[in-house]
Amino acid sequence: MSALSIENLSIVFNGKAGNFAAVDDISFDVAEGETFGLIGPSGCGKTTALRAVAGLNLDWSGAITAFGAPLQPGRKITGSLRRDIQMVFQDPYSSLHPRHRVGRILGEPLSLAGSAKVGEEVASALDRVGLNADIAGRYPHQLSGGQRQRVAIARALLLKPRLLLLDEPTSALDVSVQAGILNLLNDLKRDTGMTLVLVSHDPGVVAHMCDRAVEMGKGKIRRTLSRADLEVL
Ligand SMILES: Nc1ncnc2c1ncn2[C@@H]1O[C@H](COP(=O)(O)OP(=O)(O)OP(=O)(O)O)[C@@H](O)[C@H]1O
Ligand SMILES: [Mg+2]
Repeated sequence: MSALSIENLSIVFNGKAGNFAAVDDISFDVAEGETFGLIGPSGCGKTTALRAVAGLNLDWSGAITAFGAPLQPGRKITGSLRRDIQMVFQDPYSSLHPRHRVGRILGEPLSLAGSAKVGEEVASALDRVGLNADIAGRYPHQLSGGQRQRVAIARALLLKPRLLLLDEPTSALDVSVQAGILNLLNDLKRDTGMTLVLVSHDPGVVAHMCDRAVEMGKGKIRRTLSRADLEVL
C-alpha cells in the first residue's frame, strides 16, 4: 500500500489576472517508509500541494489517498488520518504560539487526545528531539532557531504520525544546525518507520535525505528523480 497517492491533483486560486492553477494536474506515489522529495523553484506550488495533503486547504480537485483512505475535497480530515498526517512548517516561529510555553505547546495536543501522563510525555518528546526537559518552561522567543524547529518537530511527532510532511524544515537555519535536524529526522524515521515527504530548495538536502523525488515547475511535475538521479543532483 502507498503511504500517499496523488492523482491529477489541481489547486486553483483566484488571482488578479483571473484564476490560475498553482498546482496543475500532478500525480505521484509515495511508498510506505520512503523519504520522498518535492523540489522546484519558488512559487511552483510545493507548499500548496503539501497543505492540501495536510488538510489545511480543502479546495482542490483530483484524488489524494493516504494509507488507502481517500481524502475528500471540501471536507476536513477526520478519524485516524488526522493523527496519521502531520506537517512541519518552514518557519517554526510563526507556527508556535508566541505566548505559550513549550510545555503547553506540546501538552495541549496530548491532553486533547486524552493522555493521562502529559508531563511525562512532553519530557519524552523533548528528549526524542535532543532537547533538555527544562525547555518546557520557555517561550518560543527564548529558543534558538534550531531549538524552535526541534520543538516544531517534537509537536508533529506527538501523535505518532505515519506520514510527516516537511516544508523546508531547515531553510531558516544555518548550515551547522541544518545537519543536526536532518540527522534527527533520519534517526526518527529509522526508529518509527514513518514516511517523509520533504520540500526543499536545496539539492544537497534532497540528495542526502531522499529515496526519490519529483521536480515541479509552474504547478506541474517536470521530472521524476530516482535515487541514482539524486546522487548526481
Ligand atoms: N492562498 C493563496 N491565494 C492565492 N495565491 C496563492 C495562495 N497561496 C499560494 N498562492 C500562489 O500559488 C503559487 C504557489 O505557491 P506556493 O507557496 O505553493 O509555492 P512554493 O513552491 O511553496 O514556493 P516557495 O519555494 O517560495 O515556498 C504562487 O504563485 C503563490 O503566489
Ligand atoms: Mg513554499
